[in-house]
Amino acid sequence: MTDTIESAKRAAAQQAVKDHFKPSAAYVGIGSGTTVVYVVDAIKEASTNPDVRFVPTGSQSRQVIEKAGLTPIEFNSLPDDVMLEVAFDGADEVDEDLNCIKGGGACLFQEKLVATRAKKFVCVADYRKNQSRLLTNWPSIPIEVAPIAVPAVLRVLRSLGSSNPKVREISGLVKTDQDFYIVDAPFKTLLTPSDVSAGKGKGDGSDGTWEVNQLSKAINNITGVLEVGIFSGINGVQAEALREKKENNDV
Ligand code: 5RP
Repeated sequence: MTDTIESAKRAAAQQAVKDHFKPSAAYVGIGSGTTVVYVVDAIKEASTNPDVRFVPTGSQSRQVIEKAGLTPIEFNSLPDDVMLEVAFDGADEVDEDLNCIKGGGACLFQEKLVATRAKKFVCVADYRKNQSRLLTNWPSIPIEVAPIAVPAVLRVLRSLGSSNPKVREISGLVKTDQDFYIVDAPFKTLLTPSDVSAGKGKGDGSDGTWEVNQLSKAINNITGVLEVGIFSGINGVQAEALREKKENNDV
């Protein structure tokens, strides 16, 4: 099983790089998690241009870039007028409109910063993450929260309908690269805009249903929230999820 998952991640990463990485690119974003390690491997094989600069989305991503012998550049060192040619990242779940849940690895603010600075955001996701609706398999929305605001944010999340939102703990409280905490907030499976048009729910929380974009806005509006782990319509550029079918290893 582990082998199948790893080969699915590798195949999705190789396909993503083949389709979207140009060695002539000046700046390329590299996300966080285990799948992007395969993305970086594939870029290393493809790239013959030592001038490409890779923008990490955090300390883990920076290490992966450096270990591969590629050249990192911090987000805040980018020249003002520069857009990244492409940003590659993983996801925890992807819906049929290619909206994503991210933050399973406790990076999400910097990931969104990099994704929204890219002309194209390529979300590399294997077959396990492919669902028609968000919060089908993945249980909760990761949210990056200022430590002092945690109790207040938890209270507002409960009022929005989240059942039992919790601060993430893995042998102690998990801290992000910003020294913030991650709150994981479970909600009912999210609606797409077409679900709302089809009358499957109001999608504004008033009847217990949330549509992806409305929930994303509502959570980002809570004071103390730095960023929410729902990635939808990034800069109007649609994310592209590359999915591997379990049965035949097609990407
Ligand atoms: C980190 C992320 C990752 O991109 C996401 O969790 C996917 O990780 P993996 O590729 O290991 O499944 O958002 O916060």
